[in-house]
Amino acid sequence: MRRGLFITLEGIDGSGKTTQFRRLVTYLRRRGYPVRATREPGGTRVGEEIRQILLAEHVGHCDRLAPLTELTLMYAARAQHLEEVVRPALVRGQLVISDRFNDASVAYQGYGRQLGAPVVRAMDRTICGRTQSDLTLVLDLPPRLALERARGREARRRSKRGRFEAQSLRFHERVRAGYLAIARREPGRVKVVQADLPVAEVQKQIRRLVDSFLMKRNR
Ligand code: TYD
Repeated sequence: MRRGLFITLEGIDGSGKTTQFRRLVTYLRRRGYPVRATREPGGTRVGEEIRQILLAEHVGHCDRLAPLTELTLMYAARAQHLEEVVRPALVRGQLVISDRFNDASVAYQGYGRQLGAPVVRAMDRTICGRTQSDLTLVLDLPPRLALERARGREARRRSKRGRFEAQSLRFHERVRAGYLAIARREPGRVKVVQADLPVAEVQKQIRRLVDSFLMKRNR
């Protein structure tokens, strides 16, 4: 049996990633692909517990986690996720689609928290090794617009203080720059999607990229 394929979706907070992710999963399932949908941080029981720690610190309390603590917790969750979910699904020949994966660590911890990409990549070699995504889509838009979207959503959910209030626009500018740097470094694997458009338009770009990727891989 052929190894499965691994697709990841990335983008700054408020890029509309989770909506696009859900639509992509539905689309691919309808087309008959054996999809294993998952997300990070999380995707396993232990991983979801680690996610609670990470997000509790993110939302509201700014910068209480040291950047290296944040990085190693991300990778602790990822190690479990790889072991329990990603690698077994790939061995079974499934199409694994993850809402975020290791590029988020380069962008958020490497660029956003300014640990530097080499620190993140060193850890990545140990934990992910050869298990890298085959295709990564980066939803790109100016952080200012993403901030407005996220604020709207937070207002609708009546949450008092969201991630964006806790973190500066400048932080998200760095994260965005990180994602764009990754895309320049690996243009074959990483594709940038223009995300400051209506949901349906963004989804159209995503489907076009995924369809052509699957066609090239003969799937
Ligand atoms: P996400 O699941 O996209 O949030 P939601 O779907 O609830 O909007 O991401 C959670 C946060 O974790 C997000 O701010 C990005 C951050 N993150 C990192 O900083 N590094 C990582 O390696 C990952 C996977 C996520």
